[in-house]
Amino acid sequence: MRTQVGIIGAGPAGLLLAQILHLNGIESVIVESRSRDEIERTIRAGVLEQSTVDLMTEIGAGDRLKREGFVHGGFELRFAGMGHRIDLQDLTNGRRITVYPQHEVLKDLIALRLGTGGPIHFEAKATGIEGLTAEQPVVRFTTKDGETRELFCDFVAGCDGGYGGSRAAIPEQLVRHDYFRAYPFGWFGILAKAPPSSEELIYAHHERGFALISTRSPEVQRMYFQCDPTDSVDSWSDDRIWNELQTRVGGDGFELKTGPIFQKGIIPLRSFVCEPMRHGRLFLAGDAAHSVPPTGAKGLNLAAADVHVLAQALASYYSNRSTALLDAYSPTALRRVWRAQHFSWWMTSMLHRFHEGPEFDVKRQIAELEFVTSSRAAATALAENYVGLPLA
Ligand code: PHB
Repeated sequence: MRTQVGIIGAGPAGLLLAQILHLNGIESVIVESRSRDEIERTIRAGVLEQSTVDLMTEIGAGDRLKREGFVHGGFELRFAGMGHRIDLQDLTNGRRITVYPQHEVLKDLIALRLGTGGPIHFEAKATGIEGLTAEQPVVRFTTKDGETRELFCDFVAGCDGGYGGSRAAIPEQLVRHDYFRAYPFGWFGILAKAPPSSEELIYAHHERGFALISTRSPEVQRMYFQCDPTDSVDSWSDDRIWNELQTRVGGDGFELKTGPIFQKGIIPLRSFVCEPMRHGRLFLAGDAAHSVPPTGAKGLNLAAADVHVLAQALASYYSNRSTALLDAYSPTALRRVWRAQHFSWWMTSMLHRFHEGPEFDVKRQIAELEFVTSSRAAATALAENYVGLPLA
């Protein structure tokens, strides 16, 4: 089998890349280890930056997003028992965010891809990538029927997420450097059948720990609270969860609207960057190269930004055989990645409970939260980071 770009992974990065390449007349084949059903049902992030929405729209995947997504012009920071609105729209010349779940983005992109006749091999495991520093790389994989296949291509895009294997094709000793930080806490996430408690997202600081009130639809709400990453979901009854959330977001009479919880899970928080994001003919994009703690709502948006830069570089190569943009891919993408790392760490450090004896941190955090909610300059810095940079 032969194609121009072999794409490993049908997550946001791989699917967006495939579609932009298609629009530029460039062929690709996607190899994905999970089933379509699993991809379309896994609950992940929910916040799209304006530039991600614009990109989806430009490539023809924006219709349902426009109809069903919820546009938010601000969010709330709650601390010391009171809410303070960050007016994103006012602070950033009209930029806003859209709440639209990642698995809905994926459904739209998969339908678009299959509609153009573009191949996706689901339940196919990539078993090796070779020839990255030669003329023609090859991706070996086994199909869902257990057959072995070879995919010859000009370039390989490693879009297989934080636990995928493509990053390992960059030799660790000589070339690659991994930057890693694990946080001593996780997020306990729930989906509940309940009406929204608030029109906008709430990021809450509390001495018991962080809490986040988000939404999925008028009927389904998404909420999180900081927890011990080794805790077990079984030790949290619905009542205990609602009490914990209410304690962390309450104070001035604000009451959460509750309802049956139908999904519970614990996610670890970590920051990770792999440098460089390119080795020979392999280009990493999205979580395969980096992950950020979810506090800044950047993960999916960073994947879209990577792919935008990579697709332009590949299009330029195929139109004039210039490798200049391919050479610029890793440093260009990494600048935005580290900006997002800083912002995600900033939000995390401002809002989470850090140590066993957290008095100093709590005082420092309240001072910082008062600063970002009372100084227009500080609020603008926060808002600009949150809505994200325009795509290059
Ligand atoms: C979500 O709705 O899942 C969500 C929203 C904002 C975040 C992280 C997750 O910062």
